Amino acid sequence: MRLIKFGFLVVALALVFAVAPNSAQRRSNNETKINALLAQMTLAEKLGQLQQLDGEGNGNFRPEHRELVRKGLLGSTLNVRGAKRTNELQRIAVEESRLKIPLLFGFDVIHGYRTIFPIPLAEASSWDPTLAEKSTSLAAQETYASGVRWTFAPMLDIARDPRWGRITEGAGEDPYLGAAFARARVLGFQGNDYSTPGKILACAKHWVAYGAAEGGRDYNTTDMSEQTLREIYFPPFKAAIDAGAGTVMSAFNDLNGVPTSANPFTLTKVLRGEWKFDGFVVSDYTSVKELINHGVAANDKEAAQAALNAGVDMEMVSRLFNEQGPGLLREGKVSLATIDEAVRRILRIKFRLGLFEHPYTREASETEILMTRTNRAAAREVAGRSMVLLKNDHDALPLRPGVGSIAVIGPLADDRRTPLGWWAGDGKPEDTITPLAGIKAKVSPQTKVGYAKGCETLGDSTAGFAEAVALARASDVAIIFVGENSETVGEAASKSSLDLSGRQMDLVKAVHATGKPTIVVLMNGRPLTIGWIVDNSPAILEAWMGGTEAGNAIADVLFGDVNPGGKLPVTFPRAVGQVPIYYNHMNTGRPPDANSRYTSKYLDVPWTPQFPFGFGLSYTQFKITNLQLSSQRIRPDGKLTVTVEVENVGRRAGDEVVQLYIRDVAASMTRPVKELKGFQRITLRPSEKRRIEFTLGPESLGFYNREMRFVVEPGEFKVMVGSSSEDVVESKFFVE
Ligand code: NOJ
Repeated sequence: MRLIKFGFLVVALALVFAVAPNSAQRRSNNETKINALLAQMTLAEKLGQLQQLDGEGNGNFRPEHRELVRKGLLGSTLNVRGAKRTNELQRIAVEESRLKIPLLFGFDVIHGYRTIFPIPLAEASSWDPTLAEKSTSLAAQETYASGVRWTFAPMLDIARDPRWGRITEGAGEDPYLGAAFARARVLGFQGNDYSTPGKILACAKHWVAYGAAEGGRDYNTTDMSEQTLREIYFPPFKAAIDAGAGTVMSAFNDLNGVPTSANPFTLTKVLRGEWKFDGFVVSDYTSVKELINHGVAANDKEAAQAALNAGVDMEMVSRLFNEQGPGLLREGKVSLATIDEAVRRILRIKFRLGLFEHPYTREASETEILMTRTNRAAAREVAGRSMVLLKNDHDALPLRPGVGSIAVIGPLADDRRTPLGWWAGDGKPEDTITPLAGIKAKVSPQTKVGYAKGCETLGDSTAGFAEAVALARASDVAIIFVGENSETVGEAASKSSLDLSGRQMDLVKAVHATGKPTIVVLMNGRPLTIGWIVDNSPAILEAWMGGTEAGNAIADVLFGDVNPGGKLPVTFPRAVGQVPIYYNHMNTGRPPDANSRYTSKYLDVPWTPQFPFGFGLSYTQFKITNLQLSSQRIRPDGKLTVTVEVENVGRRAGDEVVQLYIRDVAASMTRPVKELKGFQRITLRPSEKRRIEFTLGPESLGFYNREMRFVVEPGEFKVMVGSSSEDVVESKFFVE
C-alpha cells in the first residue's frame, strides 16, 4: 500500500513538473501577454501605468484615485496600505478598468513594517548579513499581509558624511560591507521569487551617489570621478541587481552636472547596458519636476522629456509624463518605443510579482501576521547583535543582576518614539519597549530602579538636572540614555554639528560629577562627536535606534545575557571639522606625521578618528595571530587563500568580527590605504581557537584604471587581518 502511495506521489510530482512552466517559460509567456496588452492600450492608458501617486497621510487612498484607476490612468500608489483599503482600490483596477491591469502598492518599509527592527545602520553594525536577511524577510511578510507588494528599500547609498541625516538608512561607509547587506536585504524582501506569498518587491535606491551630497546637506549636488563612482558608490547597487532586485529608484541629486533622475549614463548605459537590469526605474518623489530647479529643464515638458529619454519609467507624484507625454510624442521628442518600453518594464514586474493572478490580500492575515511574538523575538535578537560596545574600562559592564539600585536617566530612557527611528513603517510607539521598561523587566525584584529624565534631547532647559543628580547620588550605578530623537535623523535632517543636542552633554557631566559609576548608552542614527564622554565615562554602549524591542535588547546587553559583538560600519570623528573622514582614503603625498608640520593633518584636532571603522569591543577578549597566505606570488587572474587563527582569550563566550583588508601598494592610480575585502562574524567559547579562511581573487584586487578598465596590476599587495580597520596583523604578496 505504502509503495503504491509513493508511486502515485512520484507520478503526480512528475506531472506537476511537466505541466508547470519553468521560469524561462514563465518569462516568455509574460512577454507574450505584455505584447498583447500593449497592443490594446491607448496612449493615456500607457502613460497611466507610468504614474505613481501618493495616498493620504493615514494610509488611505485619495478620492481622485478611484476615478483614475477606473479609467486606467494610475499604475501605482505609495503609502496606501492596509489589506482592506488596498483591496478596495485594487478591485476597481481589476474589475472596473478596461484592461484590468492590477495596481502596484508601494511603501517605505525600511526596517520593519509594524514590528520595527533596528535602523539599517545599526543592522550593518552586526556585520552579519544573515540577520538583515531575516529581518527584511519578516518585514516582507508583514508588508504583504497589509496589501503592499513593494518596498522602497534597501537604501544602498554609501555615506561618508554623518552630517547627512540619511546615513541612518544605509549600511555606512564601505562598499564591500554595503554590498553584502544589499544582497542580504534584497534576498530577504524578495527571496528567489517574489511572486511567493509573503515576499515583496525590493527597490534599490537612490541611484546614485545621493549619499555624497556636498556638505552633508540633503539633496545637495554631488561631483566625483567615474572611478569613485564605480568603486565606492556602485557596488551595493550591483550586488542588489545581481540578487534580482526588481526595481531601482533614481535619486534627487545632481551627479557631475546631470541630475540622477535624468542621467542616461547611470540609468541606461550602466544599469541596463552593463548590468542587464530588466526591471523598472521609479523616480524619487517629484524628482522629475525638480529637473526644472536643477536647471536642466526650462519647463514641465523638457523635464518629462529628459527623464523619460534618460530611462526613468515610473514617475513618483509629479505628473509630467502624463501631462506632457502626448505633446512630446507628437513633436517627436519622445518616441513611442520609449514609452512602450517603460510600460513593458512596469508590466513585466507586475507579472513577475504575480499581481495578475493574485491581486488581492486576505484581510484576516493582517491580524495573524503583524507583530507576532516570533517577530518581536527576532527584533530583540537583531537589536542585541547590532549594538557596539565602544568603551568598557575595568569591566564596568556587564552589570551584576543583583545590583542594589540603578538610576535610569536621560531623555531617551523612556522614550517610545526614538527607538523606531526615521521611516518607522506602520510601527506604533505604544508597542515599543523602552530601556527603562527593559531594565525593569530584567532586574531581580530586590533591585531598585529609579528614573529621571533630566532634560529633553532638544531645548535649553536644565530644570530636570537636580532630580537626575539626586537619583544618581542615591543609586549604586547610573545608566544615562542620550542621543538623537527620531525627528533629527533621516531625510532632510542634515546637521552642521554632531555634538549631543540640547543640554544632554551637560546632563552627562552633571551625573558624572556625582562620582557614581555612569554608563552611557547612545541612541542615535549617525556618528556623534562624544569626545568628553570617551575621555570620562567608564563604559559606552552604542545602541543606535534599536526598534520595537530596543529596551529589552539593551537590557540583555547591559546585564550580559547578550555579549555585544557589533562593529562600527562607519568612522566616528572627533570633530565635525574632520568630516569627511573614512578609513579607505588615499594616502596623499604627505601622510600625517606628528613630527612634521607640512604633512596632511589638522592644527587643532588629531587627524585620527575617535573610533575607526570596524571597531567594537566585547565582554571577552580575542587574539588574532598566525596570518598565513597560500602563496607569496599570484598571477593577475589567480586566487589566494588567507588564513588566521582567532582565539577567545577571555572568560566569556563572545563574538569577534574578523576583518580582512588589502592595500595595492603601488599602481597606475592612487589606491586606498585599506580596503575591506572579507569579514566573518564568529562565536567562540572561552579558550576556543579557530582558523578562519578568506579567499582573494581578481574581483578583490582590481580597480578601474585611467581608461576605466577593471584591472589587476602587478606589484606588491599588503594583506591585513584584524578586529578593526586599525587593529590588524599584516603580511604581503605579489601579483606577477
Ligand atoms: C523620498 C525619499 O527620498 C525616498 O527614499 C522615499 O522612498 C520616497 N520619498 C517615498 O516615500
